[in-house]
Amino acid sequence: MNKLLEIGLVGAILGLSLLPAAQAADPKPEDVAQYRQSVYTIIGWNFKPIGAMVKGEVPFDAAAVARHAQYVEMMSKAAPEGFAKGSGPDAVKKTEAKPEIWTKASEFDTKMKDFQQEAAKLSEVAKGGDEKAIKAQFGKTAETCKACHKEFRKD
Ligand code: HEC
Repeated sequence: MNKLLEIGLVGAILGLSLLPAAQAADPKPEDVAQYRQSVYTIIGWNFKPIGAMVKGEVPFDAAAVARHAQYVEMMSKAAPEGFAKGSGPDAVKKTEAKPEIWTKASEFDTKMKDFQQEAAKLSEVAKGGDEKAIKAQFGKTAETCKACHKEFRKD
């Protein structure tokens, strides 16, 4: 089969455009919201098992903590893109994001940076495998989740 046709067909099947750059430049509000919700789903997915180990609900596994912490750190860096202007509750139905994210942008930004900083530290500490240090840094990171949710996410 003609290579270009083949790519086009695969693209059509996957629902992709041959020009993804055009989409990236102008994402729909729903897509932005879906992106950030996906990012936070991955964050929660990886943060939860660390919490379970820290609380002693499951056996401590240093390698697993390090792996999960790395994903949380990575996703903390991916999160800001999910808050493009115009992707708030006035444009998107299915969202728990509060309008204050955009009206108090610098405050939100600070909360995001606090999170990124503590998540990066958690990832660093996790590599060392010191259970006590991990426990302490997990607590600090969890505080940054709560601080942002309290102010910027609907219950
Ligand atoms: C800077 C702000 C901020 C920080 C920090 C933050 N969150 Fe969130 N989180 C949000 C907002 C806003 C939403 C709602 C997104 C939406 O519904 O559009 C959300 C949604 C979520 C969701 C639900 C995702 C879904 O399915 O829709 C989970 C789970 C979550 N956060 C976990 C966490 C965890 C765990 C941390 C810390 C490790 C964290 N968040 C840190 C702002 C934040």
